[in-house]
Amino acid sequence: MQFSIFQNPLNTWQGNSLIIGMFEEDIFQQLEKYNLNIDVKLLTSKLLKKDFKGKKGQILNFEFLDSHLNSVLIFGLGKRNKIVYESLSKSIADCSRRICDVEEKSGILLPWDELENFSLHSAAEIIRLSIFRDNRFNHKKDEKVSLKEVEFLGITDSKEISFKEIQDICAGVEFARELVAAPPNILTPLEMSRQAINIAKNYDLEVKILDKKECEDLSMGAYLAVAKGSDLEPKFIHLIYKSNDDIRKKIALVGKGLTFDSGGYNLKVGAGSQIDMMKYDMGGSAAVLGTAKAIGAIKPKGLEIHFIIASCENMINGSAFHPGDVITASNGKTIEINNTDAEGRLTLADALTYASNLNPDTIIDLATLTGACVIALGGDLAGLWSNNNQLANDLLKAASEVGEGMWHMPLQKSYKEGLKSHIADMKNTGPRGGGSITAALFLEEFFNENINWAHIDIAGTCWADKNKGLNPSGATGYGVRTLVKWIKNI
Ligand code: BES
Ligand code: MN
Ligand code: ZN
Repeated sequence: MQFSIFQNPLNTWQGNSLIIGMFEEDIFQQLEKYNLNIDVKLLTSKLLKKDFKGKKGQILNFEFLDSHLNSVLIFGLGKRNKIVYESLSKSIADCSRRICDVEEKSGILLPWDELENFSLHSAAEIIRLSIFRDNRFNHKKDEKVSLKEVEFLGITDSKEISFKEIQDICAGVEFARELVAAPPNILTPLEMSRQAINIAKNYDLEVKILDKKECEDLSMGAYLAVAKGSDLEPKFIHLIYKSNDDIRKKIALVGKGLTFDSGGYNLKVGAGSQIDMMKYDMGGSAAVLGTAKAIGAIKPKGLEIHFIIASCENMINGSAFHPGDVITASNGKTIEINNTDAEGRLTLADALTYASNLNPDTIIDLATLTGACVIALGGDLAGLWSNNNQLANDLLKAASEVGEGMWHMPLQKSYKEGLKSHIADMKNTGPRGGGSITAALFLEEFFNENINWAHIDIAGTCWADKNKGLNPSGATGYGVRTLVKWIKNI
C-alpha cells in the first residue's frame, strides 16, 4: 500500500473514496471549511436526516454514483479537545475495512492540527494494519486487497514526510501475524529457523541456529526436556543486529517459541483447554522476529540487539519428559517437573541463561506464558513484570504511544514459597492462585540479577477472536510496535 500527501486545493482531489472525520459541532461549517468538490448543503442535510452529530464511534456512508467520488465515509471524532486515541483508531480502522475492497484510490481528511498526539504516521499504520488479510491457506490466496493508494488530505504544514519507517514497522507486524497464524504442521521449529535465516539474509544480520547437539553441549537440560517428546528437532535461534557506529546499549529480546503446545503428559483436555489454538504458543517469538525484521530495515544507531528463540514442540511419545522428572537447566539449577504443561518457562530458562551470558544491559522476554494472565487481564492487556521500574515505565510508555494495552504486575517475592520443591532447587509450577506471578518469579532465577529485565505475558493479547481496533480477527502481531517504539526511544 502506498501513502502520500495531497497538497493542492481539496476541490481538485480526484480519488474514488474519502474518509472524513468531524467534530461534534456545526457540521455545515466544518464541511464548508474543507472546501471539497461536493455539495456541502446537500451532504449536511443528508447527515442531519440520519441523525449524525459527530459523536465518537458514529460512522455514515454515502454513495455518490454521479461523480468520480464513489463514496464518502464520515465518522464522528467526538468533542474537540477530548479526543480518545482508542476510539479514533477504531473508527479509522472500521472505515478502512469498509473501503478496502471497493476502491482503488482513497483519501483521508482529518483536522490534523487539532489532533494532539495523533500523527499521519499513526493513521497510516492503522489503515495498513486494519485491512491486512491472511489468505495463504484458502482458495482466495491469489486475491489482493484492492485498496492500493491512500492520500492524506488537509495537511497544512508541508514538511517532507516519509512513510518508510511506518511501512517497515507494519511489515514487521504483518510478518509476526503470519507466523502466529501459520498452522503447526507448517510452522515447525525448522521452518521458524528458516524464516530467521531469511531475515538475516534480507537485512544483513548475523544468524546462528543451534541444533540439538549444540544445545546439549551448552547443557540446556530444561529446553531439551520439553523438546524430547516431539519427532521434530528443536532449533535454537539467535539473530544479531549491530549498528556500525559506537554501541551505546546492548539488548536481548527473548521470545517463547512453542510451535505447538499439547501440554505433554499433563495433556490439555476439554473444550476450555484450547489445545486447538496452541499453534499461537509461539506468539512471543513471532513478536521477536517481527521486531528483528523491522529493526533490520530501520537500522537504528548505537545499538546491538540480540533476538533469541528456543523453539520446539511440547508433544507426547515414549521419550517425552514425565511429570515428576528432575532436570538441570544450563545455569546448573535443578527443576522438579510437577506439570509438563508449564513448558514455556522451561524453554525460556535456557534462553534467558544464554541471553544473560551475552552480558546485555537489558533483557526483555515475551511469551504466551499463562492462562492465569488471561484470567487476570483479559484480551486487551498484556502483563508486564520487571526488576527495574525505569524499564517498566519506559515499556508502558512505548506501549501506550502505539496503542498496545499493557499493565504493570508485581513480582511478589513471598510467592516464591510456592515454587519450593522437596527434591530439587525448585518446581516448575506453583499453586493456581497468582499463577502468572509465580511464572515470572520462576524466570527470574535464570539470568544475572544485575541485568535489567522485563517479562511480558501476551497469552491474552496475541490472538483476537473479533476485529479489535487495528487488529483484524486472528493473530494480532502484538509486541512488535511496542518493542520498536521502545528501541527508538532509547
Ligand atoms: N501456552 C500455555 C499458556 C496459555 C494458555 C496461553 C491459554 C494462551 C492461552 C502455557 O504453556 C500453559 O499451558 N500454562 C499453564 C501453566 C500451568 C500448568 C501452571 C496454564 O496456564 O494453564
Ligand atoms: Mn503449556
Ligand atoms: Zn505453552
